[in-house]
Amino acid sequence: MVSLQTVQAHNATLKSLAPGLVAVFVGGTSGISLSTALALARHTSSPKIYLIGRSQSAADSAIASMKSINPSVQPTFLQSDISLLKNVDSVCAEIAAKEKKLNLLFMTPGYMTLKGRDETAEGLDRKFSLHYYARMRFISNLLPLLITAAQEDPSSDSANTRLSRVVSVLDPHVAVRAGGSGTLDFSDLSLKNTFSLQKCGAHASLMGDFFLEGMAQRHRHTSFLHTYPSGVATGVMRELPGGGVLAAVLKPLLRAFMVPIQESGERHLFAATSGRYPPKAEGEGMEGDVAVGSDGTKGSGSYWVSWDGEVFPENKKLGKTREEGAVEKVVQHTDEVFKQVCEEGKTYP
Ligand SMILES: NC(=O)c1ccc[n+]([C@@H]2O[C@H](COP(=O)([O-])OP(=O)(O)OC[C@H]3O[C@@H](n4cnc5c(N)ncnc54)[C@H](OP(=O)(O)O)[C@@H]3O)[C@@H](O)[C@H]2O)c1
Repeated sequence: MVSLQTVQAHNATLKSLAPGLVAVFVGGTSGISLSTALALARHTSSPKIYLIGRSQSAADSAIASMKSINPSVQPTFLQSDISLLKNVDSVCAEIAAKEKKLNLLFMTPGYMTLKGRDETAEGLDRKFSLHYYARMRFISNLLPLLITAAQEDPSSDSANTRLSRVVSVLDPHVAVRAGGSGTLDFSDLSLKNTFSLQKCGAHASLMGDFFLEGMAQRHRHTSFLHTYPSGVATGVMRELPGGGVLAAVLKPLLRAFMVPIQESGERHLFAATSGRYPPKAEGEGMEGDVAVGSDGTKGSGSYWVSWDGEVFPENKKLGKTREEGAVEKVVQHTDEVFKQVCEEGKTYP
């Protein structure tokens, strides 16, 4: 376990970075993303922070909190329902028009539901889209800015240690918990015909796992993390029937087993900035405290990280799914969805 003391000591060093780190928080109006954005505001000078979500009032209050922590923060709220990929494209175009580089893409959009398949106008399930397709579309669109951040001249005043990182918060191991098979249904990856909430959870997690692994192989100067936050008291249950009441009842009962929200933010800021999770180009052959990547290679550039900063141990079921060609098949499917929905304006499939 990475101790909270180590996390805090690392985060305190971020003040020495050059001002003007650029970070995008998708789902930044609430919960883990907001808590991490606040931690970034606390520990860095003049960061440019983009918050993406739907709620204007939540964004107003988030920005006021950020400004009270650090008046030098430069916040921007982009209001959008990003369960639609066309909206993801518009938001990314707005960011790309304003920024030349991006140091951190941090993503948490999603919600809990008991509803079955709920199709968007683009033919994808809404929850699946928020947990997987929209997040991967953000990565694809913003990669040029992430690559620019990785290429910054370290001697320039504005260089920020070439930080170029993607963090997606969900759960890399949900498909193998409680005896889960850890397999993907390659004949129906989007679950158009075989949707269940359980399969949706497993597919969103596994497809995120393997898409990020593929990204890290191809984009050697950016690192890609899929993290599990453990239990954190946030608004994640707000869309469940009686979710507000349920959360209020569970919170005191489960407090001892949960990660406090501010600690989660500090821990995620560590995940987002620590040299423990280097990109492939730096990590290969690196000595010292470097995490083992999701494919079992130290410093591979893709990391499946638990709430405490440690990577998940190797898992045979996930290894078997990888051997079945998961990286290539998931990337090919995702590219196909993006082509059909975003370039051709069709519904999928
Ligand atoms: N909290 C936990 O205990 C826990 C445990 C395991 C995994 N997770 C996963 O971790 C992630 C983060 O959870 P959290 O607890 O931080 O949740 P949260 O507090 O509910 O935050 C979710 C964020 O997603 C945004 N969002 C939801 N639907 C959206 C949409 N259609 N368009 C744009 N933004 C949207 C929300 O903003 P708006 O309302 O402003 O749109 C909010 O900022 C989730 O994927 C969750 O499944 C959480």
